[in-house]
Amino acid sequence: MGRSRERLRQKMFYSVLAAVYEASPISLPERLVEEVVRRLRGRRRVLDVGCATGYLTRRLARHCSEVVGVDVNARMIRASRARTSRENVRFLRADAHDLPLPDGYFDGVVLSEVLQHLNLRVAAREVTRVTARGARAVIVLPNPASRVARAATRLIHLLTGNNEWVSCELVAAAFGREWRVSEFEEHGDRVMLVLDRVGGEPVGGEGGG
Ligand SMILES: C[S@@+](CC[C@H](N)C(=O)[O-])C[C@H]1O[C@@H](n2cnc3c(N)ncnc32)[C@H](O)[C@@H]1O
Repeated sequence: MGRSRERLRQKMFYSVLAAVYEASPISLPERLVEEVVRRLRGRRRVLDVGCATGYLTRRLARHCSEVVGVDVNARMIRASRARTSRENVRFLRADAHDLPLPDGYFDGVVLSEVLQHLNLRVAAREVTRVTARGARAVIVLPNPASRVARAATRLIHLLTGNNEWVSCELVAAAFGREWRVSEFEEHGDRVMLVLDRVGGEPVGGEGGG
């Protein structure tokens, strides 16, 4: 399938979901939201890539100085902006492959259930470009050991045309030697991977060094 048709299908899928995203099973359960936030608490500037309606972005904003949520879908960004008026939160409509953000700005990133839609190498290069040494990336992916996750991944692939199966090994390889894997945990249908960028001082956050 051509990239533009894939993009259109993905856009339709997430545009329809925008109104109900936070009540849908596609959003993370509360206990996993807490685990993600715990790994990034105390970071100064955090980026939420593929933020959807911004529920993780808003939660992170309670514990971090500045949080930026980006999503390629305009309806998701409109919904995100409508749901908060916090001064330390910004939402941008942007493609994760080409972030309109400065080099070395962030010391934390969350990529939750989004890498499946992206070119891993390009996305990892962008995340590396916009983060400083010592930054932490918290990544959530479907759990390959879960039948529900495998079925959901297939279904979303059928609907969007581009929801690829991404393993933690592929992610670690794409991020390369500038990042080390600090933690890996299974959480039901999902897995959480914590990567820390080598060099620089660790900044806030709990778990995984
Ligand atoms: C499954 S949702 C995950 C949302 C949220 N991070 C979560 O964990 O619930 C995937 C999101 O990634 C967004 N997305 C897909 N491709 C993208 C891209 N190239 N750049 C930025 N966002 C993208 C979609 O619009 C959608 O909101």
